[in-house]
Amino acid sequence: MQLKLRLSFLLLHVIRDVQSSPGQWTASVPTRIPALEGSCVVIPCTYNYPKPNSKKPLNRWRGFWKKGDTIISTSLSSWKLLPEYKKRTSFLGNLASHNCTMQLDDVRQTDVGPFYFRIEMPQYKSFSYRKHPVSIDVISDPPPPSLSVKVDKKVRASCSVSHTCPTKPPLFSWSRPGAVKRQLKRLNKWTWQVVSTLTFVPLRTDFNKPLNCSVQYRGGKQVNSSMILRIRHEHSA
Ligand SMILES: *[C@@H]1O[C@H](CO)[C@@H](O)[C@H](O)[C@H]1NC(C)=O
Ligand SMILES: *[C@@H]1O[C@H](CO)[C@@H](O)[C@H](O)[C@H]1NC(C)=O
Ligand SMILES: *[C@@H]1O[C@H](CO)[C@@H](O)[C@H](O)[C@H]1NC(C)=O
Repeated sequence: MQLKLRLSFLLLHVIRDVQSSPGQWTASVPTRIPALEGSCVVIPCTYNYPKPNSKKPLNRWRGFWKKGDTIISTSLSSWKLLPEYKKRTSFLGNLASHNCTMQLDDVRQTDVGPFYFRIEMPQYKSFSYRKHPVSIDVISDPPPPSLSVKVDKKVRASCSVSHTCPTKPPLFSWSRPGAVKRQLKRLNKWTWQVVSTLTFVPLRTDFNKPLNCSVQYRGGKQVNSSMILRIRHEHSA
């Protein structure tokens, strides 16, 4: 329950996820994405347009992400972006397959949007999907990681956080050595989860002491959780 509550912090803010239907000027993007300041966020996007009358297949597309009149990202590699967005945005989607996914890195307090996609097809038409905007909820203080511990012959501690930056997932460190395993999982189109599991055979000196999990997000923000190790099954000496 606790774990679920914590994880849901990145999911709660979503109001709707528009479906793009073929044959219309529609784009499918989340309405709001919570993202951590300093980290990166991938805005998932697909777009559609009415079928052109001409039988000639389209082979040229230009994609732009905009905020008002400002271009913040484009599929054109030669385009000169403003210094504010240069090197922070990457156009990831393949326009030929209706994909307009974009990544924003080093998220700033000012990156709230709303952002919208624009397609230009020189052999057909251009369109700005202003009715399908994306806003970013910039989070400055991430919640502490969820930490749970199972004590048996071995101690098995799990520490997990959700995040929006799949290319640079959060890094974990534990206050005690042991065997560490990492699991990455996608929770929805714009949220991922990382679980770090630490396993060790406890010594007497491990008990009644804190076991700490420290998480560092892309961008440097750190959060910690701590738990006191208690003996569950005490054997008489
Ligand atoms: C769109 O492109 C991104 C980046 O390459 C990819 O991760 C995603 O799966 C694609 N989406 C769809 C619906 O194909
Ligand atoms: C673990 O966390 C506790 C409580 O936050 C702190 O007092 C202690 O110094 C930490 N220990 C290590 C080894 O980081
Ligand atoms: C988390 O722990 C690290 C070292 O374990 C420490 O440097 C950092 O200040 C701690 N952060 C918070 C927010 O307590």
